[in-house]
Amino acid sequence: EKIVLAYSGGLDTSVILTWLKEKYDCEVIAACCDAGQGEDFDAIEKKAIASGASKAYTLDIREEFITDYIYPTLKAGAIYENDYLLGTSMARPLMAKKLVEIAEKEGAFTIAHGCTGKGNDQVRFETTIKALNPAMQIIAPWRTWDFQSREDLIEYAHQHNIPIAQTTEKIYSRDENIWHISHEGGNLENPWNEHKKDIHVLSVEPEDAPDEITYVTITFEKGIPVAIDDQKMDPVALLTKLNELGSKNGVGTIDIIENRLVGMKSRGVYETPGGTILFQAHRDLEKLILDRDTTAYKNIVAQKFAELCYDGLWFTPLREAISAFVDVTQEQVTGKVKMKLYKGTAWPVASQSPYSLYSEEFATFSADEVYDQHDAEGFINLFSLPLKIRAIQKQSLEGV
Ligand code: ARG
Ligand code: SIN
Repeated sequence: EKIVLAYSGGLDTSVILTWLKEKYDCEVIAACCDAGQGEDFDAIEKKAIASGASKAYTLDIREEFITDYIYPTLKAGAIYENDYLLGTSMARPLMAKKLVEIAEKEGAFTIAHGCTGKGNDQVRFETTIKALNPAMQIIAPWRTWDFQSREDLIEYAHQHNIPIAQTTEKIYSRDENIWHISHEGGNLENPWNEHKKDIHVLSVEPEDAPDEITYVTITFEKGIPVAIDDQKMDPVALLTKLNELGSKNGVGTIDIIENRLVGMKSRGVYETPGGTILFQAHRDLEKLILDRDTTAYKNIVAQKFAELCYDGLWFTPLREAISAFVDVTQEQVTGKVKMKLYKGTAWPVASQSPYSLYSEEFATFSADEVYDQHDAEGFINLFSLPLKIRAIQKQSLEGV
């Protein structure tokens, strides 16, 4: 009997590895995804083997994460509850897909993960596993074992000689990848506690950013970013570069209360430096290119897309259908946007596109060829007709 464990090398999954072997008397295969969390993956693999895993995988999923999960979400303009750029939500379905692939390859019938029973991540992992392989068994130790706290895990680790770095100090629950890092728990649990500056991992607080402006120009092709300052870059290099610029300028930190799928509210700080620049730039370029009705309708489906992604419903007909719609809207979202980064803000300040519907010639206050100002009178007469009829009726009823 083999179990594939979603392994990060942290306290929880290290304890789970040993606990699984003890409880199920099975072989454990550790699977670690490099989504851009900047860890020493060789060390993690070694740790997994040292902790008793029969095999350890590290998969570099960064490019696939960007092209197949981040870009569809960016193109959709999806943002959860108007704030959250979905950094963790988008990564889970891809990780779960990789776990299923490893399990199938290894002939394992069970996947285990270290998500708690109170969060969104358990849902996202498990919906995806069920969508991709309905026969797969799932073990979520946090929902069944007797441990209640970090202290319990640390004690278990000591008893079983599991190497861990953690102390009993109350720390944040964090999730990092190439798009963002999330921070929850610790002193954030009281919403009246302002987050401390030292919470930052990726970026600085706006007031600590330099007093100089940084400009960066992003080129998009069909809604996808392809170059920075006219230099073509592959997806990983491009996002890494924007993260660097965003971090330095304090761009992309939010501190929010959000509604979890499982019912409770939670408080979190998110750093999404490069992603925030991309999101703003993409939205700005669309303003030049998309017509009013398409934009308005797209905003409606963006909201639904965000909910589906947040709720772990990535591999569903509705999410795929929305993506197909979005791709049609992106056919002409090609052009560039110049962004001004300054002390926590990322402002689009200039844009251009060969498909721009904006025409200086038509918008000008001077004379032009397509717009005859006489037409406006008839337009307003018909446009305002319902208002006029109502006013006439009111007058006749009240007998003026
Ligand atoms: N609340 C965010 C979300 O649901 C972040 C979750 C972070 N997950 C974690 N295991 N620390 O997407
Ligand atoms: C967890 O509970 O495992 C992390 C937080 C979340 O999934 O929402």
